[in-house]
Amino acid sequence: MTDYLIAPSILSADFARLGEEVNAVLAAGADVVHFDVMDNHYVPNLTIGPMVCKALRNYGVTAPIDVHLMVDPVDQLIGDFADAGASWITFHPEASRHVDRSLQLIRDAGCKSGLVLNPATSLEQVKYVLDKIDVLLLMSVNPGFGGQKFIPATLCKLREARALIDASGRDIRLEIDGGVTADNIREIADAGADTFVAGSAIYGKADYSAAIGAMRTALA
Ligand code: DX5
Ligand code: ZN
Repeated sequence: MTDYLIAPSILSADFARLGEEVNAVLAAGADVVHFDVMDNHYVPNLTIGPMVCKALRNYGVTAPIDVHLMVDPVDQLIGDFADAGASWITFHPEASRHVDRSLQLIRDAGCKSGLVLNPATSLEQVKYVLDKIDVLLLMSVNPGFGGQKFIPATLCKLREARALIDASGRDIRLEIDGGVTADNIREIADAGADTFVAGSAIYGKADYSAAIGAMRTALA
C-alpha cells in the first residue's frame, strides 16, 4: 500500500499565529509542513525566508519541513535553509544556472533534494538527474498564489512522471502542488502522486481534522 503524505501549505495559514497554525494541522493528521518561499522575482509574490523556518523549529515543530523555493537565484539560500532546519529543499530548474550542482549542494547540506516543474515545463528536465533527487514536485497551478484551480493536464504528466520514477527503480517521492482538494485527491493519487500539498483546502476550512480526514478517506 502506498505511503501517502499530506503536506499543508502554510501559505494559506494565518501568519500572525504561524506556530499554532502549523501545530494545529500536524495535530489534525498532517505529515509534512510545506513551506512556500517566494521572492517577487521568480514569482510575483513575496513570502518568508529561513528565519521563519528557524522560528518554527524553535517553536517545537519536529515534523519534516518541505521548503519549496520559488526564488532566483537558488544556491545562496540552500545553506541558510539547511541551517534553519529544512528537511527537504526543492527548486525550479529555470531558477538555477547549474541544476545538477544545486541538487548536490542540497544533499551536501544534509537535506533531501528535489526539482519542481511548472505546468508547462517538460519532464525532460529531470531525466539526467534522477540519481540526485529524492522528490519530484509537479506544479498543478502556476506558482505564486494559493487558491488556484487544478490544471487537468497535470494528470497526464503525473502518469508519465510515475512511469519514469518506477522505471528508474529509485526511491523518489512524487509530489503535487496546487488546487488539491478532497474531491480530486483520489484521481491525483491514481495518476501516481504520493505526496499532496494542499493550502486552501486545509487552512481555508474551519475544521482541519475534518479537512485532512476527508482527504485520507478519499485515499483509503
Ligand atoms: C503556489 C504554492 C502552493 C500553494 C498551494 O505557488 O506553491 O504550495 O500554496 O495552495 P492551494 O492548495 O490553495 O492551491
Ligand atoms: Zn508550494
